[in-house]
Amino acid sequence: MTRRYPIAGIAGGVTVRCMSGRDDDRARPPGASTPLPAARVRGLGASTLVDLLALTARPEILSFAVGLPDPRIFDVAQLRAAYACALADDVAGANLQYSAAEGMWPLREALAARLTARGLATEPDELLITTGSQQGLTLVALMLLDPGSTILVEDPTYLSALEPFRLVGARTVPVATDEDGVIPQALDAAIEAHAPAAVYLVPTFANPTGRTLTGPRRREVADIVARRGVWLVEDDPYAELRYSGQHLLPISAASQVQGQTMYLGTFSKIGCPGLRLGWMRVPRAVMPALSSVKQAADMHTSSIDQAAVLAYLRDADLDAHIETVRGVYAQRRDVMLAAMPDTLPEGSTWTSPDGGMFLWARLPPGYDATTALRVALQERVAFVPGAPFYADATDPRTLRMCFVTYEPSVIAEGMARLARAFRARLT
Ligand SMILES: Cc1ncc(COP(=O)(O)O)c(C=O)c1O
Repeated sequence: MTRRYPIAGIAGGVTVRCMSGRDDDRARPPGASTPLPAARVRGLGASTLVDLLALTARPEILSFAVGLPDPRIFDVAQLRAAYACALADDVAGANLQYSAAEGMWPLREALAARLTARGLATEPDELLITTGSQQGLTLVALMLLDPGSTILVEDPTYLSALEPFRLVGARTVPVATDEDGVIPQALDAAIEAHAPAAVYLVPTFANPTGRTLTGPRRREVADIVARRGVWLVEDDPYAELRYSGQHLLPISAASQVQGQTMYLGTFSKIGCPGLRLGWMRVPRAVMPALSSVKQAADMHTSSIDQAAVLAYLRDADLDAHIETVRGVYAQRRDVMLAAMPDTLPEGSTWTSPDGGMFLWARLPPGYDATTALRVALQERVAFVPGAPFYADATDPRTLRMCFVTYEPSVIAEGMARLARAFRARLT
């Protein structure tokens, strides 16, 4: 879109093309450079997965590979109004200025009230605003992990949590899981064996599996980490996207773990990810250190974005929006689940999540999901192979599919393409 903006003193004003980031995706060949001296980045960027995911982004591909919320249900009108409010004459100067490392106080108050209402009693001074939960994971790594220290993770776990943990030189050690999430006895044994600095869990509608840690297991896990005196990192981006079953309290709400949990939340899945706005709930005692680390990372999360989210929380109805999102995504989950038996080869298994964005499947013996993806791409459909989600030994037969990005008719078309790909003999 091209627009002309009048500017005082400049005849005719200026012409600006309003563009999306995607309009400017220009591939450039890699140039030469002096070798990077930092050992932690050696080998980074050479992943086959990245190459494969680049293929899945081609416009003709129906991609279930990436966890993309559907942009058609972003609350654009209310967000536009929220930004207009944050840029109103009387507040624009302050909202475009540097602000506190911990985040804007009224936003911390509003988010603390939301968490408290969901059963996780939180005071505003226990919250730090992050630039997305992904930054929360980097801050967690900097706060809890030294080179050579260990963090326990679910097997499999969120791929992009492994990266910040490894970048600070920590060892990521997997703990066995089953249909109900991490296995408490395995967790206890792993703490005994590895003396970790922390345990990282995605207990609700996990990425990549969609699985949820049951209520009784939450209590067991809380007891174990409390008894062992280990930090718990609870990453919880999906809890509000529940389509069936009962709301479960976060592990961080248990009285016995107060003082040893870092709980991460985000606007990405309930609102929109491009805002890059998340939060971290930590014990008050560690806030001074966390705020110094945050300041070193990026001074603070964008002031104008925080102000817009605050205006949104005040003037729009986030709960009503989440209700809409839930209705839409629940239907998409059901459509994808219903198509699974006719899509994957006989003998495959998959999860039936109560919420979130992902299904996790396992192909029968003899299949390899990475090989399968190459054939699926020829049918113009994509998923993501499960291998990179494992901290250690991988299961090459697993794969993850995101069910929220497309409307039901497109999901059905994608599943039909995938079925054709599997019929074309994938092993
Ligand atoms: C488990 C988990 N943690 C963190 C993130 C990062 O979310 P954000 O967009 O808030 O950085 C994601 C995104 O997919 C996720 O699945």
